[in-house]
Amino acid sequence: MARLVVVSNRVASPKERAAKAGGLAVALREALGTRGGLWFGWSGETQPNPSDTPKVFRSGRVTYALLTLDPEDQRAHYAGYANGTLWPLCHYRLGLLSFRRADWEGYRRVNEHFARALLPLLQPDDIIWVHDYHFIPLAAELRKRGFEGRIGYFHHIPWPTPDVFLSLPSHAALVQDLSQYDLVGLQTEDDVRALLTYISSEARGWIAPGGVVGLRERRFRVAAFPIGIDATAFVRDAKASVGSDEERRLHESLAGRALAVGVDRLDYSKGLPGKFAAFGELLSRYPQHRSTVTMMQIAPVSRGEVAEYRALRRELEELAGAINGEYAEFDWVPLRYLNRPFQRATLAAIYRTARLGLVTPLRDGMNLVAKEYIAAQNPEDPGVLVLSRFAGAADELTGAILVNPYDIEGMADAMNAALLMPLDERRERWQVNMAKVEGNTIHDWCERFIHELSGAIDHLDNPPKRAKRPRRG
Ligand code: ADP
Ligand code: F6P
Repeated sequence: MARLVVVSNRVASPKERAAKAGGLAVALREALGTRGGLWFGWSGETQPNPSDTPKVFRSGRVTYALLTLDPEDQRAHYAGYANGTLWPLCHYRLGLLSFRRADWEGYRRVNEHFARALLPLLQPDDIIWVHDYHFIPLAAELRKRGFEGRIGYFHHIPWPTPDVFLSLPSHAALVQDLSQYDLVGLQTEDDVRALLTYISSEARGWIAPGGVVGLRERRFRVAAFPIGIDATAFVRDAKASVGSDEERRLHESLAGRALAVGVDRLDYSKGLPGKFAAFGELLSRYPQHRSTVTMMQIAPVSRGEVAEYRALRRELEELAGAINGEYAEFDWVPLRYLNRPFQRATLAAIYRTARLGLVTPLRDGMNLVAKEYIAAQNPEDPGVLVLSRFAGAADELTGAILVNPYDIEGMADAMNAALLMPLDERRERWQVNMAKVEGNTIHDWCERFIHELSGAIDHLDNPPKRAKRPRRG
């Protein structure tokens, strides 16, 4: 079996005990843990003139190779181009997009640094799987240095439609970089359509059946690979939580009230101000829910170095204070707002207890929280998922109540309907959703991508056909 080499900016290092928030780290830990392989990424540390030699260590079946970055390059790469330019662009937030050439150059320098450091660790028949928008140019940098083996890319966030994508000054270079992969995976068919439309209409590429693309001299494939969760582990954790100390404390604190839960990184794509406003609207327009429902929003702080994230944090603190100030009773606080990470077992207990799962992003590649909420439910008495139609998960989780996250009153109506929903309908909707969650797990996602990437090189016929031993340097 060929070795799997995973590359991502964020690495769930076994040395860190804290729970990780973020779909990518959670998903890759599951994927690599099963198959084993090399996980190459950023060490989380910076230092001027960093070495091209990563720190290497092994834990279980996974070898970790972690690279330290120059502080200015790291800023330009992560807070600058990745999260100040690509993130708002891919989430359709052009008003928040900033583009600075220095960030673009820093982004490319980090990709070059990664390629230089990774190349000596590679064997020709390795399967390289690069994750997310931090590393779109990595394949191009590896190819420049002579690596001809299989390289795949998975984009965990939405791919914007051509009219939005064209706002990016570096759009052509970025798609040229993508063409150096053999397989490009996106979350949904809509994302695939958006990229292929750009390629055929703007980049003058050709598209053949099965998503095979020709762009200049390169052939590659674009396809949808909706990501899943480790459903079995979530079901197990949720069942195990029944009767635990944490579950008991949670139940006691609710004193018989229904719980509505949201779990999101503190990110402007997650639609948190709208969700808070909709909960306030629910209490205002449906007073029967006052004192009978408690909302808990878990929102670990994310990307605090980016100004928009700091502004969002302040806005949410104000909104939470306003809702509690207006509706709290001496024995009931309507909104519990927590900015910290939790272990998966604790999250599973909270999801299972919650009568409502509130997942209302303005845009989201997939949203694993929606799937985790479904997996954690008690099949005999399941809660209801209120889900944004703009989350990738909405394609699969058709048993959810789908909402438009821009429609605050509509979301309040959906929360009301979910709170009043009879048991039969809750069960029916949950069964539809659970079949999807169990039918496409993180293991299925991983196997399918690796399987298709393994065969990709033979179908695509990119010259030269055979992989050579990589050149160093
Ligand atoms: P994103 O990748 O944008 O953060 P997802 O919903 O796809 O969004 O993935 C988020 C992941 O992070 C989920 O697996 C979720 O359980 C985890 N997570 C989110 N908040 C927390 C938290 N407070 N503590 C621990 N894990 C969290
Ligand atoms: O899923 C999208 C994503 O950007 C991942 O790439 C990332 O690991 C996660 O969200 C959390 O973001 P960050 O790594 O910036 O904390």
